[in-house]
This record gives sequence, structure tokens and C-alpha cells, in this order.
Amino acid sequence: MLRFLTAGESHGKGLVTIIDNFPSGVKIDSSFINEKLRARQSGYGRGARQKIESDQVEFLSGVRGGYTTGSPISIFIKNRDFENWKERMDAFKPLSEDAKIHIPRPGHADFAGSLKYGQDDIRNILERSSARETASRVAAGALFQLLLKNFGIEFSSAVLSIGGIGDEKIPELDLFDGKILKNISRSELRMPFPEAENEIKKNIDRIKKAGDTAGGIFIVQAKKVPPGLGSFTQWDEKLDGHIAMSLMSIQAIKSVEIGMGVKSASMKGSEFQDSIYSCGNKGFCRKSDNAGGIEGGVSNGENIIVKCAMKPIPTLMKPYLDTVDLKTGKPEKAFLERSDVCAVPAASVVGEAALAFSICLFFLKKFGGDSLKEISRNFEGYIKQLPGGK
Ligand SMILES: Cc1cc2nc3c(=O)[nH]c(=O)nc-3n(C[C@H](O)[C@H](O)[C@H](O)COP(=O)(O)O)c2cc1C
Repeated sequence: MLRFLTAGESHGKGLVTIIDNFPSGVKIDSSFINEKLRARQSGYGRGARQKIESDQVEFLSGVRGGYTTGSPISIFIKNRDFENWKERMDAFKPLSEDAKIHIPRPGHADFAGSLKYGQDDIRNILERSSARETASRVAAGALFQLLLKNFGIEFSSAVLSIGGIGDEKIPELDLFDGKILKNISRSELRMPFPEAENEIKKNIDRIKKAGDTAGGIFIVQAKKVPPGLGSFTQWDEKLDGHIAMSLMSIQAIKSVEIGMGVKSASMKGSEFQDSIYSCGNKGFCRKSDNAGGIEGGVSNGENIIVKCAMKPIPTLMKPYLDTVDLKTGKPEKAFLERSDVCAVPAASVVGEAALAFSICLFFLKKFGGDSLKEISRNFEGYIKQLPGGK
């Protein structure tokens, strides 16, 4: 079964990603992967760290001559900032007492993580809980996207709103439309329509000046996903359930909606359900996609649509939040210096990678094989026998 693990600390030497059970024969395009990493690093409202890093993948195993071999793939992404942290992040040097952090930031993993792992230095928690880890996920996600491209499956993501400004209810938004794709790639906020952009940037500036942070909503879509991925036969085989886990596990994501999501609760059955039509040589088709491409935990051939809410960044640059010193029990205010003000554009790129993993996992469960050739044969055989060949 396809799986991947990530390792590495935010200010350690670098990040390691291991992808297991990835089929052989898939052409690897490093520039595609590095472009996704660049997109994750960009976006209006990000902190000074992104000026130091310039993420690039280095393959340690599993790829030869530009193609995957079927062996575990391991990828290294260097942390350039490590140069500034060598002393503090050394694996063996004893830690000085004054360098230890005892004041947890509410909303980060600091408090719960310190209690769980019995650590008296919160750095041991924040180094790993940091969203620096998402660079690994984006690299892995790019590989899953490269595999799925062979079958016409593509992914796209965009930001809908930040700090409550923007349009979260855009109906029938096609993230694969040429004009929309251009808008997203030109926008510093990765937004599909430029109208609200200036207002949002000004709001981010105001929030930054106040030492505060913002969250927002992003959307991810996958197109040409064949019908039949996932299953209703067991609770843990449902595609929508797995997608929810993949996206909810991204740092700071607090809701995951499929299709109409929350809005579906206030719609009538006659409005919400996507009627089915016979569409000649296109096979079967729908005029709406309120279900977000999944019915009964199974992909139905329509676009997969996922919308996520990201909470405001927990590290504030002014001391608004009450907390306690875990060592003395005395009341304190939480604040640290370097952090993002808003990372919703970056999170949307991570969301694309997370969706790519779920789709790739279920794609390989259905069409599984050890090589791209074997998977292609299984895929083509299945598609051919579908009514209408779709
Ligand atoms: C792309 C991205 C960048 C983030 N940048 C920061 C940051 O600079 N500072 C911060 O405190 N949290 C940041 N976060 C959020 C925290 O990592 C997250 O809130 C924390 O790990 C606790 O997890 P939880 O919010 O899911 O409970 C970022 C999240 C993402 C997805």
C-alpha cells in the first residue's frame, strides 16, 4: 500500500520524505516538484523565514535516469536557516538552561506537546509541530501528481477568502479554466478573481501592524478522477473520509468540506442532489457537482471539490494572549518574533498535495501494480468496460 513518512525539524539540517510502494516507470520532473515548493513558500503575509529558504528537492534513492525504480523513494530538502541554528540544534551538545523555552503559545502544539512528551524545553515540540514539515508533504504530493498525470488526473487550488474578506460561496468555480488558472498564478494571494485582492492585502497590512494574524478559506479540486475510487463497504475505505483526514491533518486546518459541505444542510433534496444524464459518447454526466464528486464514499467521475478553513496563525507578534510559565506556574503573555501573519495561500498548495495523496492511494488500490505499465493496463481495461467507456 502506498504510504509516506516525513521527518525533520524546522531548524534542523533538513527535511526527509520517504515514499514507499510507489510504482516503477514514472517519469520524474524535478522542476515540477520545485515549482510546487516555490508556490508553498510564496504568498502575501508570510514571514522572514521564506526569504532565507529556497526549497529544492534532492533525491537520495528510488529514482534513476529520471524514472522511479519501484524502490522506496527518499527525498531531502535542505534547511538553509540551519546555519543560524547549528549550536542550538546540535544533536549532542548539552542544552543551556537559558535557551530553553517554558512559555507555551496558545493555539500551537507547545502546551499539549510538552505535557505529552514530558519536555522542559518547548523547542523540542515546536521544531517538529511547525508547518515547515509541509514542504515534505508538498514534495511527496508533487510525485503523486506526476503519477496521476499519466491518467489525465490533475489538481488545482485557490484561496477564496482571508480574514473574512472574499467570496467563500462562489458557485460552479472551475479551477481548471485557463483564465482562472492565470489569475491564480499571477495573484500574490492565489485568488481566482482579482476583485477583493487589494482590500485583503490592506487588511493583512493592518493585521500585521497590530501584531495580529489571520486565517482564511481555500479550495482544492481534482479533475478526471475516474468513477470507482473508494468504497462504501467499510467505513475506513471511504474516499471522502480519507480526504477529510489528509486535509484536516495539515497544520491549522479546522474544517474540511466536500462539495457544498456545510451549505448542503440548508438545501432541499431536489436542489442538492446532482441529477444524472446520458450524454452520448461522454457517457453519463451531471449538470451540477454539489456532492463534490463523491457519492457513497466512491468517486462518481465528476470533479472532486474540497474546501478548507484555516484558523489564524497562533504566533502573535504582540502580547495579546494569556499563558503561563510551565516551569514556575506564573502568568505570562505569549509572543515570539518571527512568524507568518497569514499563510492561507501556502496552505492551499499543501492542500493540493494532501488531496493528491488520498486520490493516488485509492487509485493504486483499484488499479494497483508494481509498474506504471501494469497500472495502465488495469486502468484501461476498467475504463473500456464502463458503460459509455467513461
Ligand atoms: C503553510 C503554513 C504555515 C504556517 N506558519 C505558521 C507560523 O509562521 N507561525 C505559527 O505560529 N503557525 C503557523 N502555522 C500554523 C501552525 O503550524 C499550527 O497552528 C500548529 O502546528 C498547531 O496545529 P493546529 O493549529 O492544527 O492545532 C502554519 C500553518 C501552515 C499550514
